[in-house]
Amino acid sequence: MALLGRLRTETAASHRALEECVDIAACLSTREEWLWLHESFLGYWAPLEALLFSSSDLERWLPDAGLRRKTALLRLDIDSLGGISQHLTYCQELPPLASIAQKLGCLYVLEGSTLGGQRITQMAAGCGYAAPEAGRFFRSYGPQVGSMWKTFGERLEAYALADPDSHEIVVGSAFETFTRLSSWVATKKTERSRHVGYSPYH
Ligand code: HEM
Repeated sequence: MALLGRLRTETAASHRALEECVDIAACLSTREEWLWLHESFLGYWAPLEALLFSSSDLERWLPDAGLRRKTALLRLDIDSLGGISQHLTYCQELPPLASIAQKLGCLYVLEGSTLGGQRITQMAAGCGYAAPEAGRFFRSYGPQVGSMWKTFGERLEAYALADPDSHEIVVGSAFETFTRLSSWVATKKTERSRHVGYSPYH
């Protein structure tokens, strides 16, 4: 099976668990909840992308890697929603990203979120606070979502062909990326429910 198919099958349960944990409908119920979701995601995306793009090795396999960073979109959404995107706490339990295989597995998850993002953008369309200024992250590449995903898939398969021993590592990294994000979101939820007047800022 092609690597992309393996990733889809073997992380399907982790994707479902993340969807349940995030609960987009609840996050869209108020402006505060929508802001909270973006703050929580920034706490994961910002340190993860910093690690992913800390060296140029990724570009050998994914020449347009630089275009795929989404931390700035999250910050813009947070600012539009009245949050302060500069002083948030960041996740410390990131998936290991020592090799290209690990980086590509992690990127499968981050890039895949643009597909779910299209569904979420539709769900958000009726909420005044969620669109369009505060919907940049989930809109991501806009009409180019399909072509960006296709290119990513092609580059991933090219890597998979060149390094057939790496597949297990790619899949393992995608799994770690999903599960650590779920754990992070769950932690943020617990923090919020424990503290009345909870602030995500230092
Ligand atoms: C929480 C609400 C979410 C919903 C409702 C959702 C929904 C979806 C949908 C409908 C697809 C399939 C799209 C298509 O085939 O055109 C999809 C794909 C995907 N989503 Fe999500 N998603 C959500 C969150 C996320 C997040 C936060 C991530 C990652 C951080 C993610 C990662 C992925 C991946 C990797 C795929 C691609 C699966 C594949 O085809 O290989 N999703 N999602």
